[in-house]
Amino acid sequence: MADQAEKLRELVRQKQQQVAVQDNSKCKIITITSGKGGVGKTNLASNLAISFSMLGQRVLIMDADLGLSNVNIITGLIPPPKYNLSHVISGEKDILEVIAHGPCGIKVITGAVGVTKVANMGTKKRNEFIESLDSLLPLFDLIFIDTSAGLSDNVLSFVLAADEVVLITTPEPTAITDAYGMIKAIVAKNENIKVGLVVNRIQNILEGKKVSDKIVNIAEQFLGLKIERLGYIMEDALVRKAVSEQTPFFVTYPNSNAANCISHIRNKLAEIPEENHKDKGFFSRLFQGFKSD
Ligand SMILES: Nc1ncnc2c1ncn2[C@@H]1O[C@H](COP(=O)(O)OP(=O)(O)OP(=O)(O)O)[C@@H](O)[C@H]1O
Ligand SMILES: [Mg+2]
Repeated sequence: MADQAEKLRELVRQKQQQVAVQDNSKCKIITITSGKGGVGKTNLASNLAISFSMLGQRVLIMDADLGLSNVNIITGLIPPPKYNLSHVISGEKDILEVIAHGPCGIKVITGAVGVTKVANMGTKKRNEFIESLDSLLPLFDLIFIDTSAGLSDNVLSFVLAADEVVLITTPEPTAITDAYGMIKAIVAKNENIKVGLVVNRIQNILEGKKVSDKIVNIAEQFLGLKIERLGYIMEDALVRKAVSEQTPFFVTYPNSNAANCISHIRNKLAEIPEENHKDKGFFSRLFQGFKSD
């Protein structure tokens, strides 16, 4: 098991070196977003951040939900750190001064709760703020930005600031429609943006495949955008349990179906071949389970 983890860490280091050669800036910004609210953004961002940190990456998660932030709850930072993004936006603190220590070595910048002034910041202020994120780049290998749901200017700015966007949806028709609306809005601003898709709360793999096929095909056909299928997350009672316990499920329930799914998504994002995955049979078992139903 230790050998397996070391092998994964080495693969990630190699990938990073390749990226560093191709591109001067080593830090990658990944924005996690959705059309509909409550579909699993914060859980995905927090647990994915932890899964990368466990591979030795320097990871920051920033809660860019500027109205109703909750990364601190999912990552177990209770009470929340004294300073958060609202203090950066108001000019009281520098972004480097509001970085808190989260679980498993991740760093966390929490959002503002109920600060409408921050939620509604204007274009100039927002652009200044996004530029200030540059000072974080030398400190991290990966920055995850967890946005609020929907098509606000704030969300779109964080999406456009990313190297890669991860769009998450559930199989619910309303969530799929809103995901498509989000893709359309993103493409209207930048048609070359890299977008990956995660389908959360699936009952079985076939359901996940159907939903991702639908979104990927529509985006390609009508918007000319090639979306990468990053994977699925099973509906898992342990996710809800971990949330109520205010802990990340990747840490508290590392053998849960949801945690396994996070590892697969991480490997896909890091371009780690599946044969190096510790539980490579996970999805085939799910498929078998489905076939025998
Ligand atoms: N795979 C899953 N299995 C079971 N329940 C889940 C799963 N994913 C998310 N949930 C449930 O959905 C709730 C919302 O998840 P989360 O807070 O991550 O969504 P969100 O998209 O960040 O919401 P918001 O738009 O309000 O920021 C969780 O508290 C949990 O109860
Ligand atoms: Mg959230």
